[in-house]
Amino acid sequence: MTTPVRVAMLGCGFIGEFHTLGLRYVRDAQLVAGCDASQERREAFAARFGCRAIASLEELCADPEVDLVIVSVPNHLHRDAVMALAAAGKGVACTKPLGRNADEAADMLRAVTDAGVFNAYLENVIFNPDVLRMRAMVEAGSIGRLTTARAREGHSGPHAPHFWNADLAGGGALLDMASHGAEYARFLFGKDVAVTDVFAWGATLVHGGRTTGEDNALMVMRFEDGRTATIDVSWSSKGGLEGRFEAYGDAGRLITDISVGSLKAFVERPAGYVVEKADVETGWLFPVPDEVRVHGHDLMMANVIEAYRDGRAPQETFRDGYIVNGVLDAAYRSMRSGHWEPVTLDAALLGSPA
Ligand SMILES: NC(=O)c1ccc[n+]([C@@H]2O[C@H](COP(=O)([O-])OP(=O)(O)OC[C@H]3O[C@@H](n4cnc5c(N)ncnc54)[C@H](O)[C@@H]3O)[C@@H](O)[C@H]2O)c1
Repeated sequence: MTTPVRVAMLGCGFIGEFHTLGLRYVRDAQLVAGCDASQERREAFAARFGCRAIASLEELCADPEVDLVIVSVPNHLHRDAVMALAAAGKGVACTKPLGRNADEAADMLRAVTDAGVFNAYLENVIFNPDVLRMRAMVEAGSIGRLTTARAREGHSGPHAPHFWNADLAGGGALLDMASHGAEYARFLFGKDVAVTDVFAWGATLVHGGRTTGEDNALMVMRFEDGRTATIDVSWSSKGGLEGRFEAYGDAGRLITDISVGSLKAFVERPAGYVVEKADVETGWLFPVPDEVRVHGHDLMMANVIEAYRDGRAPQETFRDGYIVNGVLDAAYRSMRSGHWEPVTLDAALLGSPA
């Protein structure tokens, strides 16, 4: 019998719950602890999922019964958490964005590389079943030569204060949401095709009273062979989470909207949770039956745990997170300069071109 991978959740908030539920059907995962600075949150988490509650990162690092820590705390805590966990010899899986910028992500990549610990970058969108199928169809040549990819991601604004503090979070809607689109584009084009430069626009159109960060943004990623991907994100889009992903080739196109399923409901009385950031509880609704699966967390967690168990790298590593941060840094430079900006990454750290 295989020894289970003993997993701890660092951060028992919104994404900590998704990550935990993503472990539900993963045979070789054993959730052993939830660590959160909030006593209320960690105790509620421990009671709900039947695991131990841990109060601090220091205790988590020293815990001999933890193999792999899933970093699900706010952006500004990712770097220091990973540095401490790597130094303690723990495997780490970190939510997006890996760092607040490429410098932080580089520190994190160096730390896990030097310590020789398992590392996974938790980008869920590319584990959505439609997106996986799109990639397989592109690879099979069904749409001919892929010419461009598009992503539109939006909602009406984040649920927690740390996102709204742009200095603390490291950015606004672009960093928060285009991190998904950037990796989606790399996934479709192939990770061996480097993103060379980026053109971007961003503005605070709606939430100026709440944030100094951009609440709407556009980003064009240009690959080394001249092909492009366009990522369009918003924190002021009403009516529930938007997640539309498209791919165009010279022999066809592929389009999915992962934020709606086939269920349509008209209700006059609220029935509780509808869908992420639904904005309304009555009227015409489009509830998604299982967001954990639809958002890709089931397959992502299976990929991470199986890789850890088998002693190999998962599909997405810190190297990918570092590249995404590099793309987003170039986008922020472009927002300020009004020009295309090159993606500048440390080639030695990357180890091979991308
Ligand atoms: N993959 C996705 O689609 C996705 C979606 C949402 C959030 N995220 C990412 O997840 C991260 C957290 O976002 P969230 O929405 O879960 O936020 P959240 O505010 O809902 O949860 C964060 C949790 O971290 C805890 N925390 C704060 N400081 C801590 C500390 N020092 N030690 C331990 N716990 C601490 C908080 O008490 C809270 O429970 C962010 O980096 C965000 O970008 C990813």
